[in-house]
Amino acid sequence: DKNGQGNGDFKLRDLEQNREDGTEQFLTTNQGVRINDNQNSLKAGERGATLLEDFILREKITHFDHERIPERIVHARGAGAHGYFQVYESMAKYTKAKFLQDPSVKTPVFVRFSTVVGSRGSTDLARDIRGFAVKFYTEEGNYDLVGNNAPVFFIQDAMKFPDLVHSVKPEPHNEIPQAAAAHDTFWDFISLMPESMHAIFWAMSDRAIPRSFRMMEGFGVHTFRFINEEGESHFVKFHWKPLLGLHSVLWDEATRISGKDPDFHRRDLWDAIEAGAYPEYEFGVQIIAEEDEHKFEFDLLDPTKIIPEELVPVQRIGKMTLNRNPDNFFAETEQIAFHPGHIVPGIDFTNDPLLQGRLFSYLDTQLSRLGGPNFHEIPINRPIVPIHNNQRDAQMRQMINKGRVSYDPNSLGGGCPFQAMMTDGGFHSYEERIDARKVRVRSESFRDHFTQPALFYHSQSEAEKKHMVDAFSFELGKVEMIAIRQRMVNILTQIDMDLANKVAANLGLATQNPEQPINHSFGANTDPKTVQPTDKR
Ligand code: HEM
Repeated sequence: DKNGQGNGDFKLRDLEQNREDGTEQFLTTNQGVRINDNQNSLKAGERGATLLEDFILREKITHFDHERIPERIVHARGAGAHGYFQVYESMAKYTKAKFLQDPSVKTPVFVRFSTVVGSRGSTDLARDIRGFAVKFYTEEGNYDLVGNNAPVFFIQDAMKFPDLVHSVKPEPHNEIPQAAAAHDTFWDFISLMPESMHAIFWAMSDRAIPRSFRMMEGFGVHTFRFINEEGESHFVKFHWKPLLGLHSVLWDEATRISGKDPDFHRRDLWDAIEAGAYPEYEFGVQIIAEEDEHKFEFDLLDPTKIIPEELVPVQRIGKMTLNRNPDNFFAETEQIAFHPGHIVPGIDFTNDPLLQGRLFSYLDTQLSRLGGPNFHEIPINRPIVPIHNNQRDAQMRQMINKGRVSYDPNSLGGGCPFQAMMTDGGFHSYEERIDARKVRVRSESFRDHFTQPALFYHSQSEAEKKHMVDAFSFELGKVEMIAIRQRMVNILTQIDMDLANKVAANLGLATQNPEQPINHSFGANTDPKTVQPTDKR
């Protein structure tokens, strides 16, 4: 098993040193002192005042007082599992990533599924996009594929992410609604952002109320790069395909389940793994040659677009199996820190402006969520390969670095690691040629917002289309401002007139002449009050 490395159990064995089991053990303080009475505090007399001296009480209460950490800014509600990944055959032609070379190697993974909007205690069955985040503990370091169960996102540029999230989260004055998009601020924002339509169509479809995490697809969303040993690049889109197939519940079922068992998805995942019915997902890639970058009608860098499978088929190149529940939700599922910037040699980024913003956001937010820069030492986050560098100190440091030297270059040696030669492997960024002006703009190639939502809608069966009409009608029916409902209906007319008419009728509105929707996205010169005439149908 490659000396343990690359074996599917390797991460579990690594975690073993941090596991604790109190069975038949004496109760102790955090200093290891045995405790004889866990029922009573220390008092001055039987009915007397409690003594400040009671270090056992103080320690117990103090630790309890600090048990909570901030929940994730988004994707707060989730469930996780351990497993492993195996590639079907070597992908050396496209990528040098080691975990994609040898079908006999099992790479350990930890997966976290999540909803986006609701807080940690919200219902699993909310209409929402689901997170599908995978951490591969590879022999070359951790690789995180931080994806969603929809292949497109609501915005094209990271600049808009705080606005998107502020609009969809519960409204600030009364913190309503929890875990739902059905409110004015969300639809106000969305109806002013036509680029969100494709993701909105996915969110209003049955995909947004999955039957189970085991029956959900996953997508890397952005276009990434594969880099092979020769340094050649291919564009790649990542997919997860559940072997149980794709299944959803009906909206009526979702609302009932939310009442009866808000933990429905979490419980389903847990129970399936306990019963040995291990969830399996095939890993799929769509590969595009570098020279084909501009052959599509959309831009590969635009995260609101899919590459239709008719144009570039999905090749299934491996399989992930989830075969073990966590021992402790907080230690593992809550403290795991995914980051799209955790990549390994053989994989690289593109200039997708949403991806580029994400590369900043995750580490930044985790510094506050997980209390400083040493959270990579938390057992669930540490790689299965050793870490050597000159980073030092900070809160909660656990590593005990030896030697005098924590700088480079140095002539004293003694504990200081050295940088790898190119022949020793290591990460080398793809040398993309850049010759450009520094500008704050949106590329014209990102302008068509309506072709793909229409494509998506028309790909649905009649029953599924009806579900979408019902979803739009229900969600917009919760919006109090009639002007916002009308603005949304007007945008729908740009995508599918039949859908727009049905939703309008359900809302008691008329479809107005398809006026072009307001589009604030195309640069500083756009007057927000004027209407942009150039969005393609
Ligand atoms: C979680 C930011 C777009 C998938 C998060 C978190 C932040 C964040 C701050 C919380 C992380 C933590 O506390 O550990 C952003 C920004 C985005 C963006 C700034 C756009 C500019 C996306 C997109 C996807 C995505 C496009 C899907 C491809 C996820 C997932 C999680 C997450 C799955 C939860 C990870 C987990 O299970 O711990 N995001 N996000 N995000 N994001 Fe994003």
